[in-house]
Amino acid sequence: MIQIKSIQSTQTHIVRHPVLRPGKPISTCIFDGDDLPSTKHFGLYTNTDLIGVISVFENKNLIFSESNQLQIRGMAILQDHQGKGYGRLLVNEIENYAKSANTNLIWFNARESAAKFYKILGYQISGSLFDIEGVGLHYVMYKQI
Ligand SMILES: CC(C)(COP(=O)(O)OP(=O)(O)OC[C@H]1O[C@@H](n2cnc3c(N)ncnc32)[C@H](O)[C@@H]1OP(=O)(O)O)[C@@H](O)C(=O)NCCC(=O)NCCS
Repeated sequence: MIQIKSIQSTQTHIVRHPVLRPGKPISTCIFDGDDLPSTKHFGLYTNTDLIGVISVFENKNLIFSESNQLQIRGMAILQDHQGKGYGRLLVNEIENYAKSANTNLIWFNARESAAKFYKILGYQISGSLFDIEGVGLHYVMYKQI
């Protein structure tokens, strides 16, 4: 059975750590703003196992003019479960949440390796590749909703 549920910030570390910060201290899985009331975390479960996470932050990127923006962060699916459609389900969940919160635009810093995944889901690239130190090359990507 597959279920997406609201989770606490610390639960995201179960997936953030092996997928996004492998070999790094667990403290690198704590993001600024994780525990703000406006920040939401969602987890995808297969039966009782948490295998995917995604978080959204109220954070306006000034390169976009839209007033109500949400930033996706910490999108990750455990390696053994990638490529089965779970990432798409989590992004869809965030888009539904964003619509209910009257968001105009979703944006995020996408790893270069994940840009095609987001393009398939209708997101566009803004600008050029840039480096996030210790994490790698990223594009800003966005979708008006
Ligand atoms: C990127 C990631 C979140 C995608 O989740 P997923 O569950 O593997 O993706 P899905 O199975 O839902 O894929 C949806 C579509 O995107 C494609 N896709 C998924 N990941 C892709 C990738 N890295 N490159 C190219 N296409 C990809 C799938 O083939 C599928 O295409 P289809 O609909 O034509 O069949 C996941 O692979 C992951 O956690 N990767 C490592 C961490 C990461 O890069 N996170 C994003 C940080 S910005």
